[in-house]
Amino acid sequence: MPVIAVIGAQWGDEGKGKVVDLLAEKARVVVRFSGGDNAGHTVVNPYGEFRLQLVPSGIFYRETACIIGNGVVINPAVLIDEIDQLNQRSVDTSNLVISDRANLIMPYHILLDGLEEDSRGGKAIGTMRRGIGPAFADKVARYGIRAGDLLDKEAFLERLRLILDGKNIILTKIYGVSPLSLDEVYTQYCQYGERLAPYIRETTIMIEEALNKEEMVLLEGAQGTLLDPDFGTYPYATSSSPLAGGSSVGAGIGPTRISAVLGVFKAYITRVGAGPMPTELKDATGDLIRERGHEYGTVSGRPRDCGWFDAVAARFSTRVNGFTGAAITNLDIFDTFPLLKICVGYKLHGETIDNFPSSIAALEKCQPIYEELPGWQTPISHMREYEQLPPQARQYIARLEELTSCPVNLISVGSAREQTIQKTAIL
Ligand code: IMP
Repeated sequence: MPVIAVIGAQWGDEGKGKVVDLLAEKARVVVRFSGGDNAGHTVVNPYGEFRLQLVPSGIFYRETACIIGNGVVINPAVLIDEIDQLNQRSVDTSNLVISDRANLIMPYHILLDGLEEDSRGGKAIGTMRRGIGPAFADKVARYGIRAGDLLDKEAFLERLRLILDGKNIILTKIYGVSPLSLDEVYTQYCQYGERLAPYIRETTIMIEEALNKEEMVLLEGAQGTLLDPDFGTYPYATSSSPLAGGSSVGAGIGPTRISAVLGVFKAYITRVGAGPMPTELKDATGDLIRERGHEYGTVSGRPRDCGWFDAVAARFSTRVNGFTGAAITNLDIFDTFPLLKICVGYKLHGETIDNFPSSIAALEKCQPIYEELPGWQTPISHMREYEQLPPQARQYIARLEELTSCPVNLISVGSAREQTIQKTAIL
């Protein structure tokens, strides 16, 4: 019963979509376990290029059940649009399943995400303004509405009435904006419910059945470890756990059943939104990484901050996730670089530290200590075997393995499915 969790090891956008699309060929079930439509997973395969926000990246394999797990918050309008777009491009979505326990993003969540961000002024988190934070806050405050609630219209109306009354007080009295109409929200969400009903069901049983048949299950993460609300750069973080531990809760699989935890790292590092990133390059090298790596938000189009690989952060990420292996993506972005740097420690208050600080005030003051390695200055995107890579590229990978104490399983040298090198086996 191999279960592989695919986890973002940095600040998101590491290329998890490509890795899941690749591994899903052998999987019978893929479960998205966290986040919402703040995620944007780019997949390039024989169907074309896709930007998935909610639908798991295994959707292109008809035999693979693709579950949107209980740990995801779902904006039904975005999901319906995504299903329609996939169908228009000949991708069958009859293998899609929505956990009846997944919470829904409601119109007031989206309004409040924007209003809360505006009220933070210069301290704004830089959220995607998709209602993700307010929806997760309501989930734990027990004011959430779940996908399964849409299947019972009367009970849904009662619950919505109770919750919307409270939200309208916040909207009108605190933020001074217009209230939302119960009738309009109810009618709209009933329509969404009718459309999504065929997909909504209990999901833990089907996952257990797959495990009992020794079939492979993939747990697809969103965002990245350094955005985790506990271990990320809080408060510049997201609101659900992208960690391996989160994959267990967000998919409904006991931790003892997870066989491998694959950490996905870019060969460099990026971040979008506010918050510190010690190796950020605010210079021509950063611009070159951004342009060569097309480092613009999949969902928002925002330019991402780019920097050298941070091995301090990577070690931390490996520790809190228990990675059994790593996938290094975008290695080809360095093809033209004469020299590469890896951050191996930080200088903080005159001392050298090799731990990722828990406080952002400390992290903001950390100065990276770099080690330099030669670049390979030759194209590698056509290479499929590890031994084919230039010695400098192998030296770079070997150094990442040493610094993180984590073996590299996969190396991605281009966006297409086949542009991947398997260095060692994941399982
Ligand atoms: P939220 O998840 O929309 O609340 O945003 C919180 C923080 O997480 C912001 O800095 C976002 O830019 C960041 N974030 C959320 N989703 C992603 C993602 O998929 N990739 C990268 N950053 C993300």
